[in-house]
Amino acid sequence: MTIFDSHSHLDDPCFDNDRDEIVLRAKENGVKYILNPGATLASSVKAVEMARKYDIVYAAVGVHPHDVKDMDENTIGILRGLSESDKVVAYGEIGLDYYYNHSPKELQLKWFIRQIQLAKELKLPIIVHDREAHGEVFEILSKYKVWEDGCVMHCYSGSAELAKEYVKKGIYISLAGPVTFKNAKKTHEVAKEIPLEWLMAETDAPYLAPVPLRGKRNEPSYVKYIVDAIAKVKRIDFEKVSMQLAKNSLELFDLQK
Ligand code: NI
Repeated sequence: MTIFDSHSHLDDPCFDNDRDEIVLRAKENGVKYILNPGATLASSVKAVEMARKYDIVYAAVGVHPHDVKDMDENTIGILRGLSESDKVVAYGEIGLDYYYNHSPKELQLKWFIRQIQLAKELKLPIIVHDREAHGEVFEILSKYKVWEDGCVMHCYSGSAELAKEYVKKGIYISLAGPVTFKNAKKTHEVAKEIPLEWLMAETDAPYLAPVPLRGKRNEPSYVKYIVDAIAKVKRIDFEKVSMQLAKNSLELFDLQK
């Protein structure tokens, strides 16, 4: 069995006391790969550390829209340097979050675009966060032709219709805990309508734990519940689904050597 958790904040301080056990538990549950994205400059540094420490962990570096208010060109320089570290296979998570607006909109836009340019320079695929900014995110990703180096919409929360537009452009759709929620009709539709070849599974740990652990601290070993939910919606067996989802991640992050 091969399971790929395409998005897990393993560097989060809430794992500081039992991270070794969590990685072990992930392995025991068939998880062969975990991608740890950065959210701030500090967490990008930690993500790289995690990838160095654990064989199944790979890293991405980048600054989340919540935290771009503290960014400047100096940060870009440091991230560029960090990206040269071993096992950095993507850039992110970057994007727009108009739900929380922890950073002003103008700054979110400015640094989203600047980080896309950096990822292109580095030839790294990007991991995109989009909350309540579907139109603008789509426009920007199209304008910068991000599919050339690869792109995944992490914890996708939009419609099946929009997801199909992304897939047409060669952009992957990653599903998280909500696909296991009974009332998440829109996400179930995405799981049903989008071909298996364009989907990924992620926990987004420590957030958004899937059913039956909803409300608890999330961890990579729970990614099997997300794979299972996709398998049930598609009426395809678990093994086949987990293999294909992992294959998609391996392709995007260029880990098939
Ligand atoms: Ni995340």
